[in-house]
Amino acid sequence: MSKGGILKGETKQSVKKRHSLISTKSEYEDEGAQPHEKAIAAGQPNPPYCVRNIEQNAFGRREIEIAEQEMPGIMALRARAKDDKPLKDAKIVGCTHINAQTAVLIETLAALGATVRWAACNIYSTQNEVAAALAHAGYAIFAWRGESEEAFWWCIDQCCTPTATWQPNMILDDGGDATHLMLKKHGAAFKNIKGIVEESVTGVHRLYQLSKAGKLCVPAMNVNDSVTKTKFDNLYSCRESIIDALKRSTDLMFGGKQSVVCGYGEVGKGCCQALKALGCVVYVTEIDPICALQAAMDGFRVVKLNEVIRQVDIVITATGNKGVVTREHMERMKNGCVVCNMGHSNTEIDVYALKTPDLLWERVRSQVDHIIWPNGKRIVLLAEGRLANLCCSSLPSFVVSVTAATQALALIELYNAPNQRYKRWTRDQSRRDPETREADVYLLPKKMDEYVASLHLPTFDAHLTELTDEQAKYLGLNKVGPFKPNYYRY
Ligand SMILES: NC(=O)c1ccc[n+]([C@@H]2O[C@H](COP(=O)([O-])OP(=O)(O)OC[C@H]3O[C@@H](n4cnc5c(N)ncnc54)[C@H](O)[C@@H]3O)[C@@H](O)[C@H]2O)c1
Repeated sequence: MSKGGILKGETKQSVKKRHSLISTKSEYEDEGAQPHEKAIAAGQPNPPYCVRNIEQNAFGRREIEIAEQEMPGIMALRARAKDDKPLKDAKIVGCTHINAQTAVLIETLAALGATVRWAACNIYSTQNEVAAALAHAGYAIFAWRGESEEAFWWCIDQCCTPTATWQPNMILDDGGDATHLMLKKHGAAFKNIKGIVEESVTGVHRLYQLSKAGKLCVPAMNVNDSVTKTKFDNLYSCRESIIDALKRSTDLMFGGKQSVVCGYGEVGKGCCQALKALGCVVYVTEIDPICALQAAMDGFRVVKLNEVIRQVDIVITATGNKGVVTREHMERMKNGCVVCNMGHSNTEIDVYALKTPDLLWERVRSQVDHIIWPNGKRIVLLAEGRLANLCCSSLPSFVVSVTAATQALALIELYNAPNQRYKRWTRDQSRRDPETREADVYLLPKKMDEYVASLHLPTFDAHLTELTDEQAKYLGLNKVGPFKPNYYRY
């Protein structure tokens, strides 16, 4: 390829045409029609499940069995609670990433008595073979890797729409899309929901906004801020999977490379630790002085993105914000700079601004695009700015076991709690009592967080020290917990 991305024998017009084809087409669109279109064309507007290829189910089942081995906590919960069936008659709408680990959660919820209908919260993160295995086992799964935007909403709607046999009463959401679709489109059915469990920072933020506007009316559990979830999913998991994602997609060597991580929250901290451990020079950008000071104390240079953008080899966003890396930044990046996002949504890197006729997009591998400038400079964009670790690698199952056990316990708690424990606010009530409006978004009781952790300790043959009566009295604690006040930061 020559400078400017022109192939031998091409005219400027044919380059433009090639560019428009590459830039508007995702690789998955080549896999044929979207499965739901096939179902609709076959006269099945509401199929019992919709996946890419049900024939892949045996392969998917093996993946699920492998995940079960590394998910001791959720398997222990399944074994302990399967006779009590604490989720008997629960009808759960699920909208999360669909992979082998989620399958272990789904099958646990079913073992505890729930019926589920499940869609993906991300168009690229579904493991098709796992979706096939679940569908083959009789679960109502609506998801495939490479869903179109329209298919994405169709899949979620298949789960939310009430029918004669399906009246959902719980939502397990990751990002808030199922909650919002149900609230907007199926308002009457939404009122029958007993509780919402939300996993992501972004989804929790949307819940608080709904709550403030007096529109939530259903108690919601913010599991993102459960200690077990936050530390393990955001910090420890990203610490391992960022490297995996970058290596698998780019074969990059990290030692001596310069990298910048935008956002020094839990995810950013995990990324920075991993990069530093492999010998990277790591810069951090932050808007919050407390997190910036933490970064400085941990030995990272805190900079504005503009100060280092010309020299860095790797740019990672982990802010949960939008427009963090702009076209202007990308104009100034050096040739070969790898750009990826670890935050929930694909708006952190302004990918849209790269879809202009002067730039050539070249798909070099699955989830890896080279964006080529007229002067031949190219940047390496992973997963079109979507969550790099989920799109380019897999998550450590053990960490997902912690999250899954937390989600399952939150569902059990909301589903079984007496009416008064988690309040349902009406629009009028929330108007009258603005100070307490946010009371409908709750945190998981600390004791349950501790229970989730304890379910995972036997894996390490870890032996907890028990408080003596005297020590418990001295600290003013119950001998069986909770061991820390709610405000304690781990
Ligand atoms: N990739 C994954 O597997 C994974 C796992 C968990 C969470 N997430 C997602 O990652 C994102 C971050 O999660 P978190 O738990 O670290 O959140 P967090 O709130 O702890 O951290 C985000 C940090 O970004 C900073 N920030 C915001 N805007 C910024 C900007 N313009 N420039 C620089 N810094 C900025 C904030 O001050 C904050 O410290 C969220 O979108 C979350 O949903 C991803």
